[in-house]
Formats: sequence, structure tokens, C-alpha cells
Amino acid sequence: MLEYIDLRYRPGKDDVVTQYYAEPDGVSFEKACEQIAGESSIGTWTAISTMNEKIAKRLKPHVFYMDKKSGIIKIAYPSELFEFGNMPDILSSIAGNIFGMKILKNLRLEDISFPKAMIRSFKGPGFGVNGIRKLVKKRKSPLLGTIVKPKVGLDPEQHAQVAYEAWMGGLDIVKDDENLTSQRFNQFEKRVDKTLELRDKAEKWTGEKKIYMPNVTAETNEMIRRAEYVKSLGGEYMMIDILTVGWAALQTMREMDLGMVIHAHRAMHGAITKNPKHGISMLTIAKIARLIGVDQLHIGTAVGKMEGSPAEIEAIEDEIEDDLIHPNKSQHVLEQRWQGVKPVFAVASGGLHPGLVPELIDILGTNIIAQFGGGCHGHPDGTRKGAMAIRQAVDAELKGIPLPEYARTHLELLKALHKWG
Ligand code: 3PG
Ligand code: 3PG
Ligand code: MG
Repeated sequence: MLEYIDLRYRPGKDDVVTQYYAEPDGVSFEKACEQIAGESSIGTWTAISTMNEKIAKRLKPHVFYMDKKSGIIKIAYPSELFEFGNMPDILSSIAGNIFGMKILKNLRLEDISFPKAMIRSFKGPGFGVNGIRKLVKKRKSPLLGTIVKPKVGLDPEQHAQVAYEAWMGGLDIVKDDENLTSQRFNQFEKRVDKTLELRDKAEKWTGEKKIYMPNVTAETNEMIRRAEYVKSLGGEYMMIDILTVGWAALQTMREMDLGMVIHAHRAMHGAITKNPKHGISMLTIAKIARLIGVDQLHIGTAVGKMEGSPAEIEAIEDEIEDDLIHPNKSQHVLEQRWQGVKPVFAVASGGLHPGLVPELIDILGTNIIAQFGGGCHGHPDGTRKGAMAIRQAVDAELKGIPLPEYARTHLELLKALHKWG
């Protein structure tokens, strides 16, 4: 068998580097490392007559770090192993068969770093944080949004009306929910027509830029058609459920270069990311999404309804918004230099309400998009007041005034705090 373990090896500038957590099942840790490296690259379960020195020399990965106690393994793969610009190929190697091997009880791809030449083979974000801030004309404060609720059930007129109320209450962004696409009672085109019509009206009345993010998630050709439809009506955004549509479909949408902002919803990520011992970390998924080129990405809230520790979520935010990860942050594992790749806007969404704003900003800062679904439409006085309460909470926080104090002169916030604390 080829030997992949070489603890003296130092990864070169053309290597793809991965970090895994592994728990062997019935084999030694060393054997597990050998199998992971082999199955994810050029090897198989046994020695083969068709292998030769030349192939091995050129394409063999190196396990350059392994620690039995913590279960951590680091592998450097020569980039020649992969087809550049082809994310499915890259993942079929480093995140493919290895997850199903019997000799492993658990395996988790914790982190990955891509070499410069590979980064250049993907588009990266078209707008990024600065492009979006320019479009929305908001230089510093968090962008505030809502998700029309109920998730699914309203008709196009009702949907547009709820969006209008949210914009008029002071929110910048309204988005569809991840499972609303083109249901019989709420067809995509009709919804987009009505909602963009009321967006224009809200812009006129408020004098502010308003954003609608329609969920174009569908089969790829249909997705293209829907995005083009939005664009033809003056919409600037498309929202995509990036994991349920698949990486290739996402890549297609980005490479179409429609000149639209891509909002990435991560529905289904929990099936992949939630088990701390098995699967793929959200950090890795975030890096892949940035490389392919989403402009905005759900990363969790740390304080809302979905899982994810503050440390993990902060690390993901730093990763997608920075050029270089900070080695002092606990979740940052492999250094990734993103030279020339625009930063992605971090989206906090899921279970947020006005009372959580100070803690949210404390953890994630103000360079975020914060979205409130139930925490807007659940306001005792309805959507518009709910939106006002959200904006008041953010204003108070930016002015350094405690929410209960600000609420004394802001009734909408007071009622929200009363309901949710
Ligand atoms: C939802 O649809 O409820 C949320 O978007 C889930 O949020 P998250 O995927 O950002 O955690
Ligand atoms: C989302 O898709 O981001 C959400 O549906 C969040 O909804 P919530 O604020 O009601 O949890
Ligand atoms: Mg949702």
C-alpha cells in the first residue's frame, strides 16, 4: 500500500489542505489516516497493479499532522488532483466516499484551505459587502430585514401587502421564506409582480432604498428563468437555497453573471453540520459558498432559534468577511488567504426579536444583515409596528441607550419587549 503519512511534510502553495476529525472503528488511527488519504485521492482499499511511481509521486496526498488523542488529521493534496472550477469534483474527493467507509465510526471535515490558483478558477462574489452597501445606500449600520410569514400560505397580494408594511415600518429588506417558491396559490411571477410594485411605492413614500429578495430556488433552468424574470422587472436580488439546489446549480447561477445579488439560504445545513463528530462544518460550507460566489450567507444568530455557538458563528463571520483568518480565534483552523475575493455579507436570521438586538450586535458587530420573521409579524400590533420596533431596537443599540430606557418613549419597542423580553 502507498504510504501517505509523512509528518515532516510541509504543505506547499499549490496544495489544498483539509482538516478532519476522525474516529476509527476497529482499526488503528494510523490505518484510518492512510485510508482517508487514499480513498479521497488516488487509492483504494488494497494495493493495485495499475498504480505506478509516477502517478504516486505527482498526485499522492500527505497526512502531515495527526493526533490520536484529539482525533485531528490534516492532509495536503496536490491541486493537480482536482479539476479547477469544478466544486462537485473537489467535494467528491475530499468530502466523498470517505464519509461512508466502514473503518470509520465518525468523520468530520472541519476546515479547508484552497490555493490561489484554485481560488482564481471560481468567480467569488459579484457584489460582496461593499457592493451591497452601495446598492442599499447604507454605509455602516446593520441592514434590517424580514421574512414574509407565514412561511407559505399567503397569496401574492397578501404577500406583497405584508412586504409593504415591513418596508414602511422601516426595514430595508424583505425576503421570501426558504420553502416558498411557486406554489399553486402563490405563483412566482405574480408574487414578484405585486411585491416589486409595492417596493417601488414604499421607496417613493420613504425615500429609502428597499430590497426584495425573491426565492428563485427550483430546477436549474427554471431558476435561471425566474432570476431573469426578476431582473426584467427591476429586481436586483435572487435568493437561493444553496444546499437543496446543490453546488453545481449554485455555480451555474453565479456563472450566468446576471448582475444580481445572490442571497444564500442554508436550509438543510443542519443535516450536514450539526453533529460535532460527523459531517461537514458550517465554516467549510461558508468557504465553499464564498468561493463559488454568493453575496450574502446565513450563518446563524448565536442568540436565536437555531443551533451554533457564538464562537463558531463569529469565526464564520470573520472567515467570510475577512481576507485572512485570525489564528487566535478558536474555531479558525486553516489559514485561508482570500486575495481578490470579495467579502460576503453575514446574515443572522432565525428566531430573532428586538429584545435580542444588543446581544446580537455584541457578538456579531454591526456589519451584518439581521432578519426578523416571527419577531416582526408577531408584534402585538402587526407587521408595520413590528418593523418599527426592530428599527428602534437597533437605533437604541447604536446610540448606546439600553432598550428598556429607549422603550419609554417608543411604544412599538415597549410592546415588543413586553411580549418577548
Ligand atoms: C429559518 O428559515 O427559520 C431560518 O432562516 C433558519 O436560520 P439559519 O439557517 O440562518 O440558522
Ligand atoms: C429565514 O428564512 O431566515 C427565517 O424564516 C427566519 O424566521 P424567524 O425569524 O421567524 O425565525
Ligand atoms: Mg425561513
